[in-house]
Amino acid sequence: MKRVLTGLKPTGDLTLGNYIGSIKLMKDLEGKYESYLFVADLHALTVPNDPVLLHERIKKFIGMYIACGIDPTKHVIYLQSENAYIPAISWLLECSTYYGEASRMIQFKEKSKQNANFTVGLLTYPVLMASDILYCDADLVPVGIDQKQHVELARDIADRFNKRFGEVFTLPDVYINEHGAKIYDLQDPTKKMSKTEENPKGVISLFDDPEVAKSKIMKATTDSLATIKYDPENQPGISNLLTIASSLSNEDIDSIVNKFEGKGYGDFKKYVAEIVGNFLTDIQSKYNDIINSNKIDEILDNGKEITTKLAKDKYEKLSKMMGVYR
Ligand code: TRP
Repeated sequence: MKRVLTGLKPTGDLTLGNYIGSIKLMKDLEGKYESYLFVADLHALTVPNDPVLLHERIKKFIGMYIACGIDPTKHVIYLQSENAYIPAISWLLECSTYYGEASRMIQFKEKSKQNANFTVGLLTYPVLMASDILYCDADLVPVGIDQKQHVELARDIADRFNKRFGEVFTLPDVYINEHGAKIYDLQDPTKKMSKTEENPKGVISLFDDPEVAKSKIMKATTDSLATIKYDPENQPGISNLLTIASSLSNEDIDSIVNKFEGKGYGDFKKYVAEIVGNFLTDIQSKYNDIINSNKIDEILDNGKEITTKLAKDKYEKLSKMMGVYR
């Protein structure tokens, strides 16, 4: 069976955007692929983080994955930081990656501009990401559009390594979910809904009080065209709400559009708010059941064992190929 893999970086709470763009997608692929899902906690270190908050967030992420319906018997779930062979492989890959390639990454260019004292980790981050993907020969990597370039870099690194040292890596393909790839900020629907956003009005956290989340939907920015249509260019706010409603209810966008023909934005927003509120109530009650059980530790122990074996095996193969062994 082919392998699918994705990771989420624990900077900020999981949002509705993460659910629709990533968690739900992994759930939809259940049974069709051998699946690997992890918390990319080492990636969170590329920017300053409070260690106590970061630590707390890690288990919250795992608990929320499960609460969102990820079946732990159908996915290998693990923490990146618990597999020491991943950064070890990353070093080997760094020595097969050009500085020019790494420094051309859009995210690096943007983030390094924001802060003059950025770390080397910000530059090498995509190589660690390549290691995340390549150690287990993932075939398919679902990510948001902003991470597409990083997956392509992983593929380039793998291809170069294979040609230089021999066939050892599977070349991964990026997978972008059509409607769900990007959920936009409710206040500024031209901007991605981001975990780290300072303005919480535009972002729905999976931990938001359902009533608060509903009022965020009611106050979402729309337009003055007074028609409910999926047209991301001219009606980004309405289109974003349509994507959210459709993803959470599994109803086609077209059929929702038909339902609201001739109706006003107020009615439509109420409808979307109801869907979002019910969704949050449901997952939060599941989350509360899981977080206080020892289930999470069992899941992580299992994930650590399986992935460490795979990464160790890959590391030893690569070391041999590169001549660094006894
Ligand atoms: N870089 C991704 C992000 O910021 C998270 C991530 C790390 C990832 N390693 C990965 C995603 C490997 C997919 C595959 O969202």
